[in-house]
Amino acid sequence: MADAMRVRIALLGFGPVGRSFAEIVADRASELERRYGVWLSITAAVDRTGGVVDPDGLDAGLLVQAKRAGSVAGYPGKGRLGLGSLEALSLSHADIALEATSVNLKDGEPGLTHVRMALSSGRHVVIANKAPLVLAYPELLSLARRYGVALKFSATLGGSLPTYNLGARDLAGCVIERVDAILNGTSHYILSRMNAGDPYETALREAQRLEIAERDPRLDVEGWDAASKLVILANSILNIPARLEDIAVTGITHLGREDLPLTMLGVALRRPDGGYTLKVGPERLSQDHPLAHLPPLSMGIVFHTDLVGPMAITVNERGPKPTAAAMLRDVLEIVRKEKK
Ligand code: HSE
Repeated sequence: MADAMRVRIALLGFGPVGRSFAEIVADRASELERRYGVWLSITAAVDRTGGVVDPDGLDAGLLVQAKRAGSVAGYPGKGRLGLGSLEALSLSHADIALEATSVNLKDGEPGLTHVRMALSSGRHVVIANKAPLVLAYPELLSLARRYGVALKFSATLGGSLPTYNLGARDLAGCVIERVDAILNGTSHYILSRMNAGDPYETALREAQRLEIAERDPRLDVEGWDAASKLVILANSILNIPARLEDIAVTGITHLGREDLPLTMLGVALRRPDGGYTLKVGPERLSQDHPLAHLPPLSMGIVFHTDLVGPMAITVNERGPKPTAAAMLRDVLEIVRKEKK
């Protein structure tokens, strides 16, 4: 397509999600060009070891190959050990920075600095890493507004589940009275396997093999990943300035056979004063609950509203690619607006 719009992308973080995004680009850049009139050009990719930059565009397939062999720093001819994200970002001429480094709930780094730098240099940001939003949602949103760029985070609310669009856009005008959510795939998977009689350790190892567990799996099994998603949901959909410390969090590591069957649930319950009570922990669901029978690799959410009643969405995800697909939908939404 002669008049396809070229969009330069910097991939900051090349773990399972970043790699999956590059895989999607490698597989279907031409199809995306045909369908959306956009040519997605990855101009920088950085992992923990180093990175590679070429403002003219890197070969997404070679990036994936280099990563499988160890690091994107091994990209033929151009990769550099020790190349840092900020240098790569500034050399990349990227229009959109994709932030997919590991979650660090202590200080949000390195993701928080990546997002601040990208926004304040006039770049759109698409983020899969929850920590910067959990720790600095209002600041980052106002930074994006100040620089007239987009900050998209639909990949932080349960993999590919369109939680944000449903809650913030499609239920506009409704009062959300309660949210029930299975937003952490790993703990749902582990509890489902334990409910079926399997040991905790076996299920956790399998979640790690499937690349759905966090780099530090305590974030999953102690409830912090689900709580992080609830914080982002509360800020972005319920419009309350919730923080992690506002959530009562219980993990699944202490459970014994006698406690089962249980499902790891995040709940937001609207109070008469308009605020919400937020909690995350294992719950016994009634048989008729819309999330009671989700298969092991699923996530799901139910919005209970005054005008349209309960509305539920679920997904079955076998690995990190659906989260990368959520980043792609954010990228395409930015592109669609730019093209208008
Ligand atoms: N560790 C997360 C999960 C990955 O298990 O759901 C997606 O945020």
